[in-house]
Amino acid sequence: MGRIGVAVIGAGGENIATGCHLPALKHVPEMELRLLHDVNEEGVRRTAQTYGVDWTTNFEDVLTRDDIDLVQICSPDPFHASQSVAALDAGKHVLCQKPLALSVEELESMSVAAVRSEGQFQGCQHRRYEAWARASHAAIQRGDIGEPVYGRFQVKGRFYPYPQDSFYRTAESGGQFVHNGMHYVDVLCYLMDTLPVEVFARSARHYPTADRLESDNYLSCMTKMENGAQAWIELNLMMVDPPLTPAEERVIIIGTQGTLRLGNEDNPNFEAFTPGGSVRTRVNPLIHVANPFVLQFREFAHTILTGRPNAIPFHFSARVMETCLAAVESAGTGEPVKLRDWLERGVQ
Ligand SMILES: NC(=O)c1ccc[n+]([C@@H]2O[C@H](COP(=O)([O-])OP(=O)(O)OC[C@H]3O[C@@H](n4cnc5c(N)ncnc54)[C@H](O)[C@@H]3O)[C@@H](O)[C@H]2O)c1
Repeated sequence: MGRIGVAVIGAGGENIATGCHLPALKHVPEMELRLLHDVNEEGVRRTAQTYGVDWTTNFEDVLTRDDIDLVQICSPDPFHASQSVAALDAGKHVLCQKPLALSVEELESMSVAAVRSEGQFQGCQHRRYEAWARASHAAIQRGDIGEPVYGRFQVKGRFYPYPQDSFYRTAESGGQFVHNGMHYVDVLCYLMDTLPVEVFARSARHYPTADRLESDNYLSCMTKMENGAQAWIELNLMMVDPPLTPAEERVIIIGTQGTLRLGNEDNPNFEAFTPGGSVRTRVNPLIHVANPFVLQFREFAHTILTGRPNAIPFHFSARVMETCLAAVESAGTGEPVKLRDWLERGVQ
């Protein structure tokens, strides 16, 4: 294979495909954008003109074109599972936006397709490629804080202001933790180098204005990890509009030898408190510049081109996604939920 031929799905609007995937692809020499797909004909034609590539409104065209090796799925959530399965069954590699699936049944169908396909699969889990996450991961891997025993990811903000007729406003969407939880669960699992085995959650709703969703906008989730550690993820979207109250993210990892307190986009530093004293580390400005989408695409390209192990294997992404689904289930029933071992199903 020369360059990896790419099709991007959902490229007909001002959205994640056109705002992040297409600009990032310009900086991935291993990949060549060849085809855009969207159900919005006018929109996808316009984007294709900008990039000088083919376009289609027929998803079958993506599957049958031999020069398409990788399908990047940026359509709305309800299409992720079926489009991933179809692309894997057509022998394509797949990079799928979060959430991977809206139910465990959908995840099952993806795992079966991933096992029988020659294509590689990756969830778009770009937040672990952000500078602060990479720098913190390196510090933990170096042993700066010993073995992580507790991780916490707290998010405070306003629910995402989707239009009134949007799918994401309905309870059927799975709510904001299914829609967005993968970001936070994935980063914690990546930093702590372990995966949840059991989830217990509570959720609530409080909307400060007349604008509201059908689903809860607060969820707090405790997870027991495979290695015995604990993790807590809190998605709190009850605030009045930022910038009235600034949105924020807080991450803490406690290890056997010390603690990491991590910054975020506004403050890309992290502090390590160890027996030797506290160390404040400014993230190298050079790694801060690197775009997390470009980094994930390039790492995935090397897996596709050289057979290097997949940095985010399907079983890992599936457990992260299942954690989000299980949290909403647990919040509904009041009972803890045990998670599957997707590796046992033969999914790498
Ligand atoms: N990783 C991130 O940070 C991030 C950020 C934003 C969105 N997302 C995810 O990306 C996906 C798209 O989000 P968005 O905000 O860009 O949505 P959007 O609704 O703005 O854009 C989706 C596009 O998909 C098209 N579309 C609708 N049905 C389709 C179908 N069946 N096949 C192909 N295209 C179809 C629409 O016409 C639209 O152009 C969502 O699943 C969302 O969760 C991820």
